[in-house]
Amino acid sequence: MYDFDKVTDRKNTSSIKWNFQHAFGQPDGLLPFWIADTDFATLPEITDAIQKRCEHPIIGYSAPLPSVYTAIQSWWERRHNWKPEKEWMLQSFGVVTGIYFTLDALVAKGGKVLIFTPVYDPFFAAVNNSGHTLIDCPLNYQDNRYTIDWERFETELKNGAEAAVICNPHNPVGRVWSYEEIDKIVYLCAKYNVYLLSDEIHADFGLTRRYTTVGRFLKTHDKLVIYTAISKSFNMAGLGSSCMIVPNEKIRNKIIEAYDSRWMFGPCDLAYTAIEAAYTYGDKWMDEQCDYLEKNAEYVKEYLAEYAPQIKVTEHEGTFLMWLNMRCFEKSSNELTEILAKEYGIALGDGSHYGSQADGFMRLNIGCPMATLKSGLEQIAKMYADHIYSPK
Ligand SMILES: Cc1ncc(COP(=O)(O)O)c(C=O)c1O
Repeated sequence: MYDFDKVTDRKNTSSIKWNFQHAFGQPDGLLPFWIADTDFATLPEITDAIQKRCEHPIIGYSAPLPSVYTAIQSWWERRHNWKPEKEWMLQSFGVVTGIYFTLDALVAKGGKVLIFTPVYDPFFAAVNNSGHTLIDCPLNYQDNRYTIDWERFETELKNGAEAAVICNPHNPVGRVWSYEEIDKIVYLCAKYNVYLLSDEIHADFGLTRRYTTVGRFLKTHDKLVIYTAISKSFNMAGLGSSCMIVPNEKIRNKIIEAYDSRWMFGPCDLAYTAIEAAYTYGDKWMDEQCDYLEKNAEYVKEYLAEYAPQIKVTEHEGTFLMWLNMRCFEKSSNELTEILAKEYGIALGDGSHYGSQADGFMRLNIGCPMATLKSGLEQIAKMYADHIYSPK
């Protein structure tokens, strides 16, 4: 058994979450539940492999050895029921970088790009900052659960969206899109000949529902790009690496051209070393991490139902990010962020960053030891008692 209860001190490790909150407009020293890395020590085989690699004194420009591709393929086949070909994979510094380059390569300036909102905030930036036209397709929100507005989705595709960028599983609303939902998304993109960019960085965190990759529907539509990484799964975001899976050769060549024309190199060998170790030795660690997160999520639900019942916890199927409807406070997310920080010493993710309709929501990162999570929840309960519930 791995010890996910263990508290690892991350202060003085260059951690943005623990040491650089000031750079994001928050005072340092808050108990952090915002940025999406976890506080779990990674798989020991990864750090062992990195240490061993450092015995060689040179880390030059790097490209992955065949064994890295084999490890990625094998992980996907074992865990996600789909085996991408080695030639389909392109290595990149990060998923967001990959999305930027893909949009640049495939969609002309001004072209329409659709996203389901609320969604991970760099999606907005990736579309807007690359000169494309953002098509907002809000998810339906009912009974603390998000679903796709199929009618609107199809209408936007029909009306000329050239690409759809989806998040699967979906940060921040915690949905793991079902097999049927993914099937339908791919089918509709095929019907209207729309590129489908699927950010699957949270693939390994299907908790109460099994995740389905869009790759399984390749026969329906091959205008697909899948983005994956070990960064969330194995808490290695700082290594800056991701993998794009691009089955269609023409699309792949366009993306390669976009990278090459800007002299972009891939990650360094420490990242490739970590990827190979993670995907070779990480099954048990990953399973236990998911079990741990499921317990954390359950705890959040039960605790808030008891101590802050008007905070509505969005139904959580996957990722280590929970989505709290805190509209009972009748404050904007910005105000909630400030109150939580100034009066209660904790930092949550400001929900309004994920879409205009998400004001009053906050994102809670539960990727931490239960003891840390409990401390955070106690502060939320105090805020609730002070602001909403006043005992007679
Ligand atoms: C959905 C999603 N995509 C991408 C990223 C960031 O990926 P990268 O650091 O590889 O750009 C995150 C990080 O929170 C995320 O949640």
